[in-house]
Amino acid sequence: MIAGIELLNLTLLRFPVCFKLHMTSITTLKVVLPDHRSYPIFIGAGVLDQPELLRPFFAGRQFCIVTNTTVAALYEKKIYELLVSNSPGAQISVVRLPDGERYKTLETLNEIFDVLLQDRHNRKTTLLALGGGVVGDMAGFAAATYQRGVDFLQIPTTLLAQVDSSVGGKTGVNHRLGKNMIGAFYQPQAVLIDTDVLKTLPEREFAAGLAEVIKYGLIADADFFSWLEANIDALNNRDPQALVYAIRRSCEIKADVVGQDELEGGIRAILNLGHTYGHAIETEMGYGTWLHGEAVAAGMIMACELSVDLGWLDPDILTRSKDLLLRSRLPISPPPGMSAEAFMKHMSVDKKVMDGSIRLVLLQGCGKAVVTSNFDQQALVSQLRKL
Ligand code: NAD
Ligand code: GLY
Repeated sequence: MIAGIELLNLTLLRFPVCFKLHMTSITTLKVVLPDHRSYPIFIGAGVLDQPELLRPFFAGRQFCIVTNTTVAALYEKKIYELLVSNSPGAQISVVRLPDGERYKTLETLNEIFDVLLQDRHNRKTTLLALGGGVVGDMAGFAAATYQRGVDFLQIPTTLLAQVDSSVGGKTGVNHRLGKNMIGAFYQPQAVLIDTDVLKTLPEREFAAGLAEVIKYGLIADADFFSWLEANIDALNNRDPQALVYAIRRSCEIKADVVGQDELEGGIRAILNLGHTYGHAIETEMGYGTWLHGEAVAAGMIMACELSVDLGWLDPDILTRSKDLLLRSRLPISPPPGMSAEAFMKHMSVDKKVMDGSIRLVLLQGCGKAVVTSNFDQQALVSQLRKL
């Protein structure tokens, strides 16, 4: 341990509840929270073919499916029928948002409120977030704020949303001056992860999700990182068993961290490995030009490089990380031409800045993350100047 540093490693994970539902191959994890706000994560192939899983989470008879134009064409009918079979005669509204990170704005959010108000949804309504992280973050924020808070279910349809954004209750939208700057912590009633929906996910989006999976190995579980090295080809081929294992392990780690620190007072920030650099890339390039997962991949390598420069991380871990990300078809360096000034401008807006110094997630080993501003900030400047 390095003196004076807020050391937040996860070598002693408390695993959440994990058991198999009888007669199905569905794994259930639990995000454990106070005040009766704990909720299950159902994971498996065919989760959305099991209406009985949903039934306990319907508080009323009004529902609003929030999705986007792309996902609607693929899965809206399935969810609609799931609702009808569970709740005959229910009132079901649908909001189809435009597709893309650039629409993750307060302006687009109003499209959800317009439908909820026009269709007279009351406080017992339930929103269903059907889509990737953009839809999930926006529908979650709409649920947090509509009539001061209504129920919502996360039905993530990208790998990134299945392993990260659908779990943990971070909701919100972007502002032109910073990503995810307007939002709320607001937990769903349940998360339904059906790995079958990944069959239609484009290659580039799938790879972006792998970045967040690899993140979990780096921050919390060296054995999982080794497992990923051994199984990356199976994952790239979307082998169902490998996928379920990778998603389950990722959600276990995320659920455990969120259960310890829901509001990111401390340890939860380790989930942001690579994100401070990554958000700078996303904002500088224009939202949606680099995918979130791609920016995080390059950002994780930058965080590893700085950790090596500081003498905290064995260079071998940096080499292995680069290799694993390349095999996942992800970038390992920032956009050519992005200057040190551009990084500093965006990194100083990031939510992890404290008292003027930049706080970063850095590594002291594989599976051993620290969140700290107590490092030689000049080393960061030197790193960026080399770009
Ligand atoms: P996304 O939501 O933009 O989805 C990616 C693309 O895939 C979109 O075009 C979408 O329409 C399409 N798509 C979704 N599911 C599909 C499917 N099954 N088949 C075919 N196409 C499909 O992007 P994302 O990577 O899922 O999420 C990124 C967002 O998540 C960012 O806004 C990021 O800030 C946010 N995020 C939030 C958290 C959190 O904790 N709340 C964590 C990580 C990321
Ligand atoms: N994606 C980071 C978090 O949920 O805290």
